[in-house]
Amino acid sequence: MLPIKAILALLLTALVWSDSSSARSGIDLHWLWDDRCLGCHGHSADFARAMLHVEEGELRGVHHETDLRTFLHNHYLAGMEVDAVYRMLMAQARTPPRFSEECRRCHDSAVDLVRESAELRDGVLYSRKSGRVMREFLDGHRHLDAADAAFFDELLTRIASEVYRP
Ligand code: HEC
Ligand code: HEC
Repeated sequence: MLPIKAILALLLTALVWSDSSSARSGIDLHWLWDDRCLGCHGHSADFARAMLHVEEGELRGVHHETDLRTFLHNHYLAGMEVDAVYRMLMAQARTPPRFSEECRRCHDSAVDLVRESAELRDGVLYSRKSGRVMREFLDGHRHLDAADAAFFDELLTRIASEVYRP
């Protein structure tokens, strides 16, 4: 009989293998933010809306008007995923806080909702539970009309691309 340690090692290998077979290696940007930035800045989208804005296609801060990319390089990211975090903050600074206003009452955060119920295939968001295209679910969920469904589908798809990185 195999000793218990050998069985555990086999199980672990199987787990690591099944994870790597999903072919994702990029870091979940929301995990990265929560790990390294949340303590000082709070929720990322709230921070982006309060402290940052987009001007002439560039992200600008209240304290750092220009060259935020270089700033980010030296500011707690240590060169890691700088462009990806920059793009995430830019998208958040541009997005009105509709999720907080219309959905947070029932869904704690958009990121958790995505992690729990959505998957991304070829850039399209699907429901984990039903396998349906998420946009079809959203159209009519909580009285959302087609334009609202398009807005929230785009929002959740963008977040999914920040969570499920290639
Ligand atoms: C220990 C606290 C601390 C941590 C951790 C931290 N920051 Fe900051 N951050 C600050 C302070 C203080 C400022 C404003 C003053 C300055 O320029 O340093 C700032 C400024 C910024 C700005 C510019 C805002 C503006 O008004 O111009 C951005 C963008 C930013 N931080 C992003 C991040 C990101 C991304 C992370 C995580 C990788 C992070 N910060 C982690 C304290 C922190
Ligand atoms: C009054 C509570 C409530 C509000 C407000 C609400 N939802 Fe939901 N939502 C639910 C419930 C309950 C479910 C799970 C049951 C279901 O599938 O309908 C759900 C499920 C979901 C799912 C997962 C669907 C799936 O297939 O697993 C998504 C995505 C979603 N909601 C998005 C939103 C968005 C976006 C908003 C804001 C516009 C929102 N919800 C507002 C109650 C709410």
